[in-house]
Amino acid sequence: MKLQNNHLLQTQAYINGQWQDAASGATFPVRNPYDDKVLARVADLGAADAEKAVLAAHRAQPAWAALPAGDRAGALRRWYELMLENLEDLALLLTCEQGKPLAEARGEIRYGASFVEWFAEEARRAYGEVIPGHAADKRIVVLRQPVGVVAAITPWNFPNAMITRKVAPALAAGCAIIVKPAQDTPLSALALAVLAAAAGIPPGVFNVVPTNQPRAVGGVLTGSALVRKLSFTGSTAVGRELMRQCAGTVKKLSLELGGNAPFIVFDDADVEAAVAGAVASKFRNAGQTCVCANRLFVQAGIYPEFVDRLRTAINALRVGDGRAEEVAIGPLINDAAVEKVTGLLQDAVAKGGSVHYGKAPAEENPRLLTPCLVTEATPAMDLAATEIFGPVAPVFKFRTEAEVLQLANSVPEGLAAYFYGRDYALIWRVAEALEYGMVGINTGMISTTVAPFGGVKASGFGREGGRQGMEEYLVTKYLCWGEVK
Ligand code: SIN
Repeated sequence: MKLQNNHLLQTQAYINGQWQDAASGATFPVRNPYDDKVLARVADLGAADAEKAVLAAHRAQPAWAALPAGDRAGALRRWYELMLENLEDLALLLTCEQGKPLAEARGEIRYGASFVEWFAEEARRAYGEVIPGHAADKRIVVLRQPVGVVAAITPWNFPNAMITRKVAPALAAGCAIIVKPAQDTPLSALALAVLAAAAGIPPGVFNVVPTNQPRAVGGVLTGSALVRKLSFTGSTAVGRELMRQCAGTVKKLSLELGGNAPFIVFDDADVEAAVAGAVASKFRNAGQTCVCANRLFVQAGIYPEFVDRLRTAINALRVGDGRAEEVAIGPLINDAAVEKVTGLLQDAVAKGGSVHYGKAPAEENPRLLTPCLVTEATPAMDLAATEIFGPVAPVFKFRTEAEVLQLANSVPEGLAAYFYGRDYALIWRVAEALEYGMVGINTGMISTTVAPFGGVKASGFGREGGRQGMEEYLVTKYLCWGEVK
């Protein structure tokens, strides 16, 4: 990996403005998922190190919160600019540790930076309220204050943007934060810390604790009374466990958990646009996003045409090393991910599904999966009830609106849903009936900084991005003034 700015490649933890080894001296390898080569060995922090980070954040938070909002905004703005100035390096680092194609990695850095820019602006708008008093001598004022120290536990599928969309609103609100990045992808997080320091974010305000001992470090972050909020993106199973761990200290929580997105195409849809939307939604990041189309429901009248066109589109996707510019689909993150996806395919075939593969990768590499679609898909298949997280598109046939709504809403998750159709009344009915936190209507791409991202039901709660993204890091305090005579 050849970076223009080698300083971005850090292997130590960043605590209280210092680059530090684990107290134990332990390290763990970070590998390129494409060829399994070790990119770096990173400090493997334990519980005692995590406690140090919590204390550093606790000490730094009051002074950060006391700064005028414009000063916090200025530091965030500089951080945003530095991210863009270092875009190529950040993207290469991201592709090397995560596997996604460079073009997508560049897109993620822009996406990640856009949260920093947005919340730099929102920092100035944490407005309170004045409420007419309930008695002649009373005045009521509502303040919105930072929640305090925040912990963020972030996923490997977006090693940059899932950090900035937590850190930027936290810092804008006046919180200090400790980030525990995923074991697979700590390098992007550490590079962000380099740039945050260069932007003038004070020591202790933003800390990064890489670890290969997630339970030990997570236990400190969830158990500490000094940490007042946890923001987590990851699986529903882990989210439930973290929620239990946070109960002891009654922390404020944001949980962005698993999805199982329906992608519905009605007979009157623009089929070409629907296929393009399905490809964008399904195959982004090799299918490894929480908002990927997971179950494609196509109405009987256009099912054959849709399947035909989707097969052609999939055939054009080139699979390989994400560092090669022409590649559209990189490797899956690890062997367990490959095993899971191939198991789902085997189960689908055993239950009557037909698999239609696109172009196979030019090379033998077990991490590279050929994108495919599965026709004759049925709800009895495991892939209907599982977040696939791979380049597999099951296509179900449906006949009526009522039938497809029942199928779409039949799963515990409720993160993103998509549908294509033209009839205005149908659009309203379906948009309102889908039990999901986000709905794409005639689009397969819904992610943006300016809108509130998040789910309902087993997909969690809390919103990231938009005006709502700041709310998660603020608490409300009401002042009741008496004796105003
Ligand atoms: C995710 O997979 O959790 C987030 C994807 C996005 O922001 O689009």
